[in-house]
Amino acid sequence: MDYKNLIKTAMDYREKAYCIYSNFKVGAAVLFDSGKIYGGCNIENASFGATNCAERTAIFKGISEGENNITAIAVVGSFTDYTYPCGVCRQVIAEFGEKDTKIIIAKNLEEYVVKTLEELLPSSFTKDDIDKKI
Ligand code: THU
Repeated sequence: MDYKNLIKTAMDYREKAYCIYSNFKVGAAVLFDSGKIYGGCNIENASFGATNCAERTAIFKGISEGENNITAIAVVGSFTDYTYPCGVCRQVIAEFGEKDTKIIIAKNLEEYVVKTLEELLPSSFTKDDIDKKI
């Protein structure tokens, strides 16, 4: 798969970040199995806990438009170090992804690493576990 388009979208959305408290811009782009891509940025809040990460902004945009499964998600934070998705975002990716959903962590269009969800969130708790209650 060519991830450049996904990374470019994440970079574009990074510029829309609302991060007046941390000044740390993050952009994300999600490819759903429909073939559509949704972008998102981090959106901070004076009540810090109400902050939404870029990954979740992009995922929730897609889900609220009727998308279902995540094929791949790219995230761009720092240009000098790889910015990995936080734990909450990994869990949200798990809700709508598969073990082999690709997570692309990019500094720029040339420098990126590709991980699977299983690598970043092994032995995760999912809806399958809910089905196994009792
Ligand atoms: N942030 C993201 O958008 N995604 C991540 O995976 C890590 C953290 C944002 C949240 C906050 O606005 C800023 O980065 C600093 O934590």
